[in-house]
Amino acid sequence: MDGIQTNAMVIRPARTGEDVALTDLAMRSVQHHWRYTDEFMEWEPEVIAVQPEHLTEGITNVLEVQGHIIGFYVLRGDAPEMELSRMMVEPDKIGTGCGRRLWEHAVETARGLGVRVIIIDGDPNAEPFYQRMGAVTVGEHEWTPPMMPDWHVKKMRYSIPPVS
Ligand SMILES: CC(C)(COP(=O)(O)OP(=O)(O)OC[C@H]1O[C@@H](n2cnc3c(N)ncnc32)[C@H](O)[C@@H]1OP(=O)(O)O)[C@@H](O)C(=O)NCCC(=O)NCCS
Repeated sequence: MDGIQTNAMVIRPARTGEDVALTDLAMRSVQHHWRYTDEFMEWEPEVIAVQPEHLTEGITNVLEVQGHIIGFYVLRGDAPEMELSRMMVEPDKIGTGCGRRLWEHAVETARGLGVRVIIIDGDPNAEPFYQRMGAVTVGEHEWTPPMMPDWHVKKMRYSIPPVS
């Protein structure tokens, strides 16, 4: 099939070294979509960055179209409860179904590992997306950026339904 291009989306495991590109994607995604200031982005960048350990010790899967990564997620932990610790889509692809595609893949991946509950520490702006996916908000973290005292990370949970 060499030389034939398709528009097919694939979701595949991140490859060694892709943490750098995924960090760039994550920074673009978070800052551009929610219009955060540079000051906010410099507050705790490690919360957004993708570390090499996310690829080796967690499950990091990327959504790719024609060789271009346009989104990814990271799952960490072990059954029966895993954390969805990153879920990012390229700014110009947000709102086109990529988030749902990644979410459903993450749920099926977790289910296959015997996971019953996915926990999420969600950006408050992403809370409606996770709620649309079926997650519920169970609280919020107290730590908050000094320049945005009303901004709180949401604690969310999703119970994976049994296969009917
Ligand atoms: C959160 C994010 C991954 C969602 O991805 P997306 O591509 O916009 O999601 P989709 O287009 O697949 O939307 C899926 C569903 O959620 C709904 N949805 C998405 N964002 C929403 C919002 N802010 N408010 C209400 N509904 C929303 C859509 O309407 C859609 O509903 P439908 O499938 O029933 O029609 C994306 O907005 C993003 O990358 N944001 C910046 C990074 C970020 O904050 N990530 C989360 C960190 S915790």
